[in-house]
Amino acid sequence: MVDLCVSLAGVGLQNPVIPASGCFGFGREFAEFYDINLLGAFSFKGTTEEPRFGNPLPRVADCPSGMLNSVGLQNPGMEKVLTEELPFLKTYYHQPLIANVGGFSVREYVSNTARIAAEEQVDIVELNISCPNVQGGGHAFGTSCAAAEEVTKACKAVCPKPLFVKLTPNAANITDIAKAAEAAGADGISLINTLLGMRIDLKRRRPVLANIAGGYSGPGIFPVALRMVYETYAAVRIPIMGMGGVSTARDVIEMMLAGATAVQVGAANLVDPYACKYIIEDLPAVCAELGITRLSEMTGAAHGWSA
Ligand code: SIN
Repeated sequence: MVDLCVSLAGVGLQNPVIPASGCFGFGREFAEFYDINLLGAFSFKGTTEEPRFGNPLPRVADCPSGMLNSVGLQNPGMEKVLTEELPFLKTYYHQPLIANVGGFSVREYVSNTARIAAEEQVDIVELNISCPNVQGGGHAFGTSCAAAEEVTKACKAVCPKPLFVKLTPNAANITDIAKAAEAAGADGISLINTLLGMRIDLKRRRPVLANIAGGYSGPGIFPVALRMVYETYAAVRIPIMGMGGVSTARDVIEMMLAGATAVQVGAANLVDPYACKYIIEDLPAVCAELGITRLSEMTGAAHGWSA
């Protein structure tokens, strides 16, 4: 019998598999495919104060080993999330819930964090300072240590629940940003969001995405994400939710060996809505094959080697 349980900043999860924000909506479409209560947790779509339609179309593009998106934080807005999405979610989902919060100013991040953290249904708040698809918000806060520190400190002051800060790989040095967030009171770090990229349509000789650039995700970014999780684990003392190109049970274990306490699955849900279900179902057999009886013991177990 393999023990899949993990403890994430004091929140107990039945397994470490978490659909990533932006790839699972508010869960309702996926709940039509399978019982999403088998998940460890899930992180719902980044929510801003006002409803957002997002960026102009086209805003997705195919890539080798992944995809580009320039969605632009499309979401129904905080009021609708509080009054409609969360009450509906309560009728079919009873596992830990992560609220991903977006914003365009420190004031907005603080207001969104305070409102969502006050919800009894929400266990963890994930501060999205890493969206590459919006001007003046998102990764504008995640590419500067000073800005990351300021917004984290202000949000933690109104957040009695664990506050994870979701980081961008597009920063000059992601571990510096992680250390700034930790110093400002973050309870954990989520990494990585998407890598900024673009495609050009050869016949039309223009960028495929209306927004020109977008965030690259999918299996192609897994080695980059793994390296960043590994380095961040060595740099901070707070827990990490690792993500970036995870699509199999083996990827989950590899991410944990690099230092993740729990692992988010993003683009794989868009390729196959059953992706997380299959990963969770595969984990016991893969653990048994690798001689793992307690999965939580794998966190950081690949550290201690020098080059
Ligand atoms: C988006 O809505 O543009 C994607 C979300 C993100 O990258 O944080």
